[in-house]
Amino acid sequence: EKKYDYLVVGAGLFGAVFAHEATKKGKTCLVIDKRNHAGGNIYCDEVEGINVHRYGAHIFHTNDKRLWDYVNSFVEFNRYTNSPLAIYKDELYNLPFNMNTFYQLWKVRKPEEVRAIIQSQIKESGIEDPQNLEEQAISLVGTDIYYKLIKGYTEKQWGRNCRDLPAFIIKRLPMRFTFDNNYFNDKYQGIPIGGYNKLTEGLLKGIEVRLNVDYFESREEWDAMADQIVFTGKIDQFYDYRFGKLEYRSLEFKHETLDTDNYQGNAVVNYTEREIPYTRIIEHKHFEFGTQDKTVITYEYPQEWDESKEPYYPINDEKNTAMLKNYQQLADTETKVIFGGRLAEYKYYDMHQVIASALKKSSTIA
Ligand code: FDA
Repeated sequence: EKKYDYLVVGAGLFGAVFAHEATKKGKTCLVIDKRNHAGGNIYCDEVEGINVHRYGAHIFHTNDKRLWDYVNSFVEFNRYTNSPLAIYKDELYNLPFNMNTFYQLWKVRKPEEVRAIIQSQIKESGIEDPQNLEEQAISLVGTDIYYKLIKGYTEKQWGRNCRDLPAFIIKRLPMRFTFDNNYFNDKYQGIPIGGYNKLTEGLLKGIEVRLNVDYFESREEWDAMADQIVFTGKIDQFYDYRFGKLEYRSLEFKHETLDTDNYQGNAVVNYTEREIPYTRIIEHKHFEFGTQDKTVITYEYPQEWDESKEPYYPINDEKNTAMLKNYQQLADTETKVIFGGRLAEYKYYDMHQVIASALKKSSTIA
């Protein structure tokens, strides 16, 4: 007889939702995390009364009313609407690409005129069968949007020239022919009132959580404690990297507290020039319409990933996809381990997708 029904490795969104649902069904759970806090990448630090998104800007959005109601049952969400700006050579552009952006680029006001400009640029480029990301992007949105708003940003993100990146990275580049700066098309979006930690606390209320413990440092002991394991860490590490290491892109965040109440007037400003080393500046207070005297901003620098850095974005190229398949075949044979979340599935997941996945995987608990 083991002490717990479930050992949940990782107190991120996947682990927290799974543990919450299992507990609701009368199961006992022990949640462990190697970090000194729960919440995984949605965790916020409080600085000057401002919730600072430590692991990058997080905006909750979904089309699924069931998921919206689910998160709102733990903490009420505000009506923040993501409408990022882009700066290129000191000129300001609205995102996503919409009639405001087109006006800023060409001083035209009619959708018909915009379509004509874009079509003529695409035609002039003469690209028929795009061979790389640059050609793919130009064949979708023309040269102006590509050179001013896509090229530099994408090259910083991937650390490579767009001509050396595969075309498949960009399948579509949505353009909106209305004056609408709302980044997401989803019906629901917002930020938890009081911050994301409230969501984590709500999910983990009454559940035993142990922090600062790495599963791999005493694996046998943890395994002996529960009938089943929910694993949300890296799947390659779970199998001792026997097929090799899955690769990631990483980010470095530089946080600064400034002695002004408003630095940039918007939560998210992208810098699309290659010469500026960061991709974005986040001003956290604007996610919650903050009125504090000071402000906290974060510069975001894309990084090559190595063991010393956080693994943020999976690289879904051929090599890593093939390696992942090998790991998944092993995972499929496990009867006592459930793999879930962005690291165990090596998949970019938005928050609502992680929650949906955890709800689905926990729904089979008898
Ligand atoms: P997560 O990484 O949060 O949790 C895993 C946990 O397991 C971590 O706490 C880790 O410490 C722990 N762990 C790992 N190995 C362990 C071990 N060996 N022992 C103990 N513990 C271990 N989504 C969205 O909807 N809107 C947005 O705006 C954004 N923005 C965004 C920005 C950036 C920069 C990134 C990288 C991601 C986003 N996301 C997002 C996605 C969002 O962060 C993501 O969907 C969830 O946080 C994933 O939750 P998980 O539980 O899967 O992983």
